[in-house]
Amino acid sequence: MDDLYKKNILQSEVLRQYILDTSVYPREHEQLKKLREVTHEYYDTTGQSAMMVPAEEGLFISMLVKITNAKKTLEVGVFTGYSLLSTALALPEAGQVTAIDMDREAYEKVGLQFVREAGVEHKINFIQSDAMSALNEILYKGEEFDFVFVDADKPNYIKYHEILVKLVKVGGLIGYDNTLWFGSVALPDEEVPEYMMENRNAVKELNSYLASDARIEISQVPIGDGITLCRRVK
Ligand SMILES: C[S@@+](CC[C@H](N)C(=O)[O-])C[C@H]1O[C@@H](n2cnc3c(N)ncnc32)[C@H](O)[C@@H]1O
Repeated sequence: MDDLYKKNILQSEVLRQYILDTSVYPREHEQLKKLREVTHEYYDTTGQSAMMVPAEEGLFISMLVKITNAKKTLEVGVFTGYSLLSTALALPEAGQVTAIDMDREAYEKVGLQFVREAGVEHKINFIQSDAMSALNEILYKGEEFDFVFVDADKPNYIKYHEILVKLVKVGGLIGYDNTLWFGSVALPDEEVPEYMMENRNAVKELNSYLASDARIEISQVPIGDGITLCRRVK
């Protein structure tokens, strides 16, 4: 894995380790820690474990769910379930997270056992589907959400956004993950490896799109490799 392909954009590894050791790992839920470790066991060899949100972002998502007093949330892109379990743990007892992923295997193989162990399976409604079809169906049903977290196929984010601004309540939040795409958004084209180009360009396009969208307020937070928070205002 080359140096660019690191999912934290903090330039100092020792500083990131300090944050993890001091403020993150001591606060990470026991079942999230197990889920994270087992995800690494299964998926480090293929490099797919890099898809999981970093532990500091899990705590950030948990904080967002709580401070917005969210009861009904939506997640697009589950993988083994780190962000999903972070959300489910943060929701109140009667809260619901609708989670969409076209692939259920990683979640069933790794995440589900820890979700059950944590006692939050009843808060999760997993929809195995292509995101676009599932989102259109949810829109058709007239559902509304307090908080949405999107961590899936970057080239479709703008299309998802057009549906999500209708699904999230006025005053609610949408978080788009990886909006700095491993830091590559700020590099000149010739310095970006070919395999990163499609997602990096999609994320750059999304960033400009969100910045000019008057329906939302935005804040791009440099945690992990960037999460852009969008608060619906109209
Ligand atoms: C980066 S991973 C999600 C990581 C997850 N948030 C975590 O914390 O581990 C992206 C996920 O999006 C799913 N995905 C990609 N494209 C999709 C699509 N078009 N519809 C539904 N799911 C999709 C993949 O199957 C994969 O599990």
